Amino acid sequence: VTLKIDASPKLARKIPDTLLGVFFEEMGRGGAGGLWAELVSNRGFEAGGPNTPSNIDPWLIIGDDSSIFVETDRTSCFRKNIVALRMEVLCNNDCPAGGVGIYNPGFWGMNIEDGKTYNLVMYVKSPQTASLTVSLTSSDGSRNLASITILVAGKSNWIKVKQKLVPQGTDRTSRLQITSEKKGVVWFDQVSLMPADTYKGHGFRNGLVSMLLDLKPRFLRFPGGCFVQGGWLRNAFRWRESIGPWEERSGHFGDCWNYWTDDGLGYFEFLQLSEDLGASPIWVFNSGLSYNDEVDTAAIAPFVKDVLDSLEFARGSANSSWGSVRAAMGHPEPFPVKYAAIGNEDCGKQFYNGNYLKFYSAIREAYPDIQLISNCDGSSGPLDHPADLYDFHVYADAKTLFSMKNTFDKTSRIGPKAFVSEYAVWKTDAGRGTLLAALAEAAFLTGLEKNSDVVEMACHAPLFVNDDIEKKWNPDVIVFNTWQHYGTPSYWMQLLFRESSGSIVHPTTISSSSSSNVSLAASAITWKDSDNSSFLRVKIVNFESVAVQVTISTTGLQASIDVLRSTATVITSSNVMDENSFSNPNKVVPVKSQLFDAAAHMQVTVAPH
Ligand code: AHR
Repeated sequence: VTLKIDASPKLARKIPDTLLGVFFEEMGRGGAGGLWAELVSNRGFEAGGPNTPSNIDPWLIIGDDSSIFVETDRTSCFRKNIVALRMEVLCNNDCPAGGVGIYNPGFWGMNIEDGKTYNLVMYVKSPQTASLTVSLTSSDGSRNLASITILVAGKSNWIKVKQKLVPQGTDRTSRLQITSEKKGVVWFDQVSLMPADTYKGHGFRNGLVSMLLDLKPRFLRFPGGCFVQGGWLRNAFRWRESIGPWEERSGHFGDCWNYWTDDGLGYFEFLQLSEDLGASPIWVFNSGLSYNDEVDTAAIAPFVKDVLDSLEFARGSANSSWGSVRAAMGHPEPFPVKYAAIGNEDCGKQFYNGNYLKFYSAIREAYPDIQLISNCDGSSGPLDHPADLYDFHVYADAKTLFSMKNTFDKTSRIGPKAFVSEYAVWKTDAGRGTLLAALAEAAFLTGLEKNSDVVEMACHAPLFVNDDIEKKWNPDVIVFNTWQHYGTPSYWMQLLFRESSGSIVHPTTISSSSSSNVSLAASAITWKDSDNSSFLRVKIVNFESVAVQVTISTTGLQASIDVLRSTATVITSSNVMDENSFSNPNKVVPVKSQLFDAAAHMQVTVAPH
């Protein structure tokens, strides 16, 4: 097989700076209990709904019916989070050892680490003087890692308690408990425990953010996906409810992925995350459509106004009405939102086109520089409405996605550009993240690089999954539990593309002397590193189960090749269905070696798969 690369400047083309990014959706507990470092699950006792009595899950009670009575009522000091927990201690001096109370096991346990600081905030009300013990313990409460005593002066109003807990010892599945040994009544609300050490102090779990940073994502698409749409409109993500002080956010039940989120990871935090990643924010907003209900275009005006407000929140000066809310949250500088997606997978619904046009013209007028993204696929024919970009989603088996590397070859070169905002191999071929999936996805990406005159952006989906949840969407890019994480082969594959955005792509042709089909995909890019050295990267995907001898023949290079700085990086494994796991996170990862025979014309053996 011969792979010809024409690296001459005349055929070179710059890839958009934004080509590759990441898509964060609140699904698979990727945010609440994942990227967002809050350790208390259902911190405001709102997850059971606003009516009482309500289910306080996963909070549980320490003590029995004769020693403690716990109930929910609607006496909170927070208007939007009206449910509070009332705890009545019935025992007095005869309480069981350690007292009675409540505990929260977090999201499948709290990762509490020796010597680290954890910030506790909670709201308490007690008409009589109360002495509360707040502890971090093992999951069964038998081992104490940290304890503090809080004295609550008897008052009829709520007080905010702020304390630090520094555990002695590590436990990956700890719980937070609040106990008392004295008769009396105490109310609790908004009980939060956050590690002091989060990324830039912004509340993001360090290890997970560093995985994202390593990908050098050029954009962050958020917050969904289906999460944006909702099964019903009343359960769709609403940015306005997710900003401001965390205690005052209402939280909501995301009925697409069927779990409650306190929206601690809200619109502001997504914008902050984009900034922290050096990624351009792509705000996907609800277009007035969900899976089961739609807002008639005749009544869409309030939704349009709401989106304009969200853009003012992000981009307005600190003196504007919504910009001042952002400034009060600690970010006086605007967030540079340059892209907005009008809905997600809504094309074809009764009111999509009508609603789309209303959003489109209002945003275009107020923010002419914002690139607007339509949900309708424009890859095979022109759209019937104006757009700067169109969404293209593909979930397919490996063979299909491999063959889709040519999808954009024939797409019209005029009109809106493609945003491949969700792509992945799924179902059988994907397992929980196989090498096979990564191979097909890599081939597909080489096609996007080559067609990046019409494909402006692309991102894999979904990004994160908490391994502890029962029902998982497979595969995902990053798998985590309370304290560990690993990248699936798709993650490591994407790492080999991280220099692609903004680089130069060169034409490649694959030819074979044998008559049998060659299942290879390839692309070639050049870019300049920070020290101003030029690099050529040739990526080859061998989709076959046999090794392939490839003659790489590069013409038009503007400089000689420095063998000492030439490397080969291989991702493969003995079985194409191999996956990474917590016990073997490095089973399928890139392996780098020096390429001693690097030359403009060279022979390489490309391993099977
Ligand atoms: O990525 C998972 C889901 O797939 C997204 O929420 C949705 O847009 C698509 O159907």
